[in-house]
Amino acid sequence: MFLWASPQANGPFSHKMHAPLKMKCVQCHTQADKAERAGFPPLAQCKVCHTEMGERTIPSQRLYEIRDFVVFSHARHVAAAKLECAACHGAVYEQAVLKVERSTAMKACMDCHREHKATLSCTACHELGQ
Ligand code: HEC
Ligand code: HEC
Ligand code: HEC
Ligand code: HEC
Ligand code: HEC
Repeated sequence: MFLWASPQANGPFSHKMHAPLKMKCVQCHTQADKAERAGFPPLAQCKVCHTEMGERTIPSQRLYEIRDFVVFSHARHVAAAKLECAACHGAVYEQAVLKVERSTAMKACMDCHREHKATLSCTACHELGQ
């Protein structure tokens, strides 16, 4: 295992800086192919390499977030539909600071659904009565 005890790694997390390690996305976002939420790595996982790292909050901010009345599942898109993370999140390992690559607005979901002949039915993405 590649240890990086110093510097202390308390600055902003950069995907680009970790790109040379060639880690799979699901090593840190472990639920992305299994559940609704992709999830974030626990601090303990960072400390495997950054043995001197202090306390910090992960995530420090949220970028992609949809409201509760929308049904969205990572597993459905990653495992069932076999879409790459990049189809929605872009080239994450080329970005020092992540930005929203693909909008999470209804139109953006619809555009891709149309392209892939996936559902356009209101009730697939919105539970009735909410
Ligand atoms: C598999 C080992 C590994 C894991 C796991 C890892 N890192 Fe790193 N990290 C590195 C290496 C190696 C570098 C140095 C890259 C460089 O300098 O080019 C680095 C650099 C950094 C830096 C920049 C430090 C500086 O020089 O300012 C930060 C901040 C950081 N990591 C935070 C984290 C956080 C937060 C996590 C957990 C989510 C994490 N790292 C998980 C190996 C790892
Ligand atoms: C070493 C662990 C690690 C690896 C590997 C990793 N990520 Fe992350 N990712 C993080 C951390 C930590 C954050 C939160 C950063 C913050 O909030 O400061 C994050 C945030 C994100 C976000 C923003 C989510 C949101 O809504 O806020 C996306 C999207 C993302 N990662 C996608 C990916 C993709 C795609 C890959 C593979 C190409 C990947 N990540 C690989 C640790 C990792
Ligand atoms: C079809 C588009 C799509 C694909 C493919 C996709 N995501 Fe996402 N991702 C989203 C949307 C939409 C959200 C916001 C979800 C929410 O708020 O419930 C999100 C949120 C996230 C988050 C924030 C936290 C969380 O738990 O949801 C992370 C991290 C993330 N994605 C990583 C990944 C990784 C890693 C992959 C590939 C294994 C991936 N995503 C594939 C659309 C996608
Ligand atoms: C990059 C293309 C793409 C994007 C963007 C995308 N989807 Fe999908 N989605 C698909 C595909 C392809 C399927 C069909 C999966 C399958 O065959 O199981 C699907 C399936 C679904 C399903 C399951 C439908 C069913 O038949 O029950 C839901 C719900 C869903 N998507 C919601 C969303 C929402 C909400 C968004 C936007 C936040 C979104 N999707 C964005 C490609 C996409
Ligand atoms: C492929 C998934 C998907 C389908 C199909 C879909 N929606 Fe949406 N809808 C979304 C997303 C994503 C949002 C935005 C959520 C957010 O802003 O966080 C949204 C937002 C909305 C809003 C709130 C608008 C606002 O700005 O507050 C309404 C109302 C709505 N949809 C109705 C519908 C109706 C009616 C249909 C059927 C014609 C439909 N939706 C089909 C994904 C979908």
